[in-house]
Amino acid sequence: MTDQTTLIPNPVAQAADRTNTRKVFIKTYGCQMNVYDSVRMGDALASEGYVTTDRAEDADLVLLNTCHIREKAADKVYSALGRLRDMKKERNAEGRELMVGVTGCVAQAEGEEILRRSSAVDVVIGPQTYHRLPQALKRARQGERVVDTDYAVEDKFEHLPVPDKKVIRSRGVTSFLTVQEGCDKFCTFCVVPYTRGSEVSRPLAQILDEAKQLADAGVREITLLGQNVNAWHGTGPDGSTWGLGDLLYRLAEIPGLARLRYTTSHPRDMDDRLIEAHRDLRALMPYLHLPVQAGSDRVLKAMNRRHTAEEYIRLIERIRAARPDIALSGDFIVGFPGETDAEFEDTLKLVETVRYAQSFSFKYSTRPGTPGAELGSQVAEEVKAERLERLQALLLKQQHEFAESCVGKVIDILLEKPGRMPEQLIGRSPWLQSVNVDAKSSQIGDIISVRIVGTGPNSLFAERIER
Ligand code: 5AD
Ligand code: SF4
Repeated sequence: MTDQTTLIPNPVAQAADRTNTRKVFIKTYGCQMNVYDSVRMGDALASEGYVTTDRAEDADLVLLNTCHIREKAADKVYSALGRLRDMKKERNAEGRELMVGVTGCVAQAEGEEILRRSSAVDVVIGPQTYHRLPQALKRARQGERVVDTDYAVEDKFEHLPVPDKKVIRSRGVTSFLTVQEGCDKFCTFCVVPYTRGSEVSRPLAQILDEAKQLADAGVREITLLGQNVNAWHGTGPDGSTWGLGDLLYRLAEIPGLARLRYTTSHPRDMDDRLIEAHRDLRALMPYLHLPVQAGSDRVLKAMNRRHTAEEYIRLIERIRAARPDIALSGDFIVGFPGETDAEFEDTLKLVETVRYAQSFSFKYSTRPGTPGAELGSQVAEEVKAERLERLQALLLKQQHEFAESCVGKVIDILLEKPGRMPEQLIGRSPWLQSVNVDAKSSQIGDIISVRIVGTGPNSLFAERIER
C-alpha cells in the first residue's frame, strides 16, 4: 500500500464559522485504509455537529489516525503528540477546549500506554471501534480518559452514518471503499495481523449498497481496499461463495461506475476468476499492486510468504497473458534478518525479470511482537541503507522507463481536479499516473481520450484528441 500522510479534504469547513459548531482536524498517517477510515470518522462526527477543518489551529478536536507498520511511522505519532501537548496548554490558558484523540493502528497496538506516555490524549480508539467515537468524546468531556480498542464486537460499518450525495461528491470523483480488513497470513515481519486483527470480509450487499451510493453521487472510480483485498469472500445471491473476481464482475455492472481498482493483494490469493476479471472487464484498470517483498526463496520462506520467487514470476506471466497492458507495482523489504548479499541480489534479479511501473521499498523495521523481532542476525543499518539505495535506483529507473513507454500512446483519462494553469485539468491514466491536459470544454468526472506527449518527474503531459 502507498505510504502517505494525508489531509482529509475539507468540503464543508467554510460552513463552520458558526460559533456553536465544533471543528475537527484529522491527520492521517499510513495507508489508504486509514485514508478511508478518516473519511468515515469524519462522517461519524458530522452527525454530532462537527465539521472538518484543514488547520489544526482552528480545531476543537484533533485526531491522529495512526500507522504502526514501521518504527518510524509509530515514532511520528509521539512527536506530533508532544506538539499537541503544548498547543493544549496554550488553549487551556486561554480558557478554550482542545481535545486530542489517537485512532488507528498505534491506538490498537499501544492502547493505555499512549495515555501513560502523553498527557495530552483524551481518547484512544482502535480501527474497529471508531463508530463509537462520539460516545467516547462525550465521556472524555466529562473528564474520563477513554481507551476503546475492542476487536469487532459489532460491525462498525452498520453503525456509521452515510453522508448525503453532495458531501460524497464534494470529496471528488474517485473514492476508496473498504471491502475487507485484517490479515491471517502472518508474514513474520508484519504487525497487521495484530493491529487490524484477523481477516474479515464485508458482506456483499453492504458493499454493493455503498458502491451504488457513491456512483449515484457522481463517483466514477472506486478502489476496493483491504489489507488482503483479494482474500475477500462473500455469499452470492444464489448462495454460492464469491471471491473478489466475482465481486468485480458485479460492480462493473453499476451504472456510472467507469473504473475499478483494488489494493493490496497477496500473490497466494490471485485466483483464476480474478485473473479472468482482468481479461474481461474494461472497467477494471490494468494496474495491479502485488507485493513480493523479496526475491530469495530462503528469505521468502523466513518471511512466511508461502510462495517462491519462481511461483510469483509464473503468476505474473499468467496475469500478463490475460491482460497484456497491465502495469505492476510492488512492495519490497531489504535487510530482513539474515538476508545475505547474494539473497539481496536475488531481489534485484526478480525486479529485473518482472519490470515494475511503480513500487514501494523499505528497510526492514523490527516490530515488537512479530516473529521477525525474535530472529538473531539482524542486518546492520548501513547495509540496509546501501541495499535500499541500490534497489530504489533500479525501481526508479523502471518507473521512468514505464513512463517513457507511454509517450505517443492514445489513452483514456479520468479528469480528477483542476491543474495549475486555468484551462488545465489533471486526469488519471489507467496506470494510475497523473496526466496534465488542456481540456477547456470538459469537466471533472469526464473520461476523455488523450495522446501522451511527454513525461515530468511525477506526471505525464498529454494533448486532447477526439475519438
Ligand atoms: N519493516 C519494513 N517494511 C514493512 N512492511 C510491512 N512490515 C514491515 C516491516 N516490519 C512493508 C511491506 C508491506 C508494506 C505495506 O509495508 O512491504 O507490503
Ligand atoms: Fe502483513 Fe503479510 Fe498480512 Fe500483508 S499479507 S498485511 S504483509 S501479514
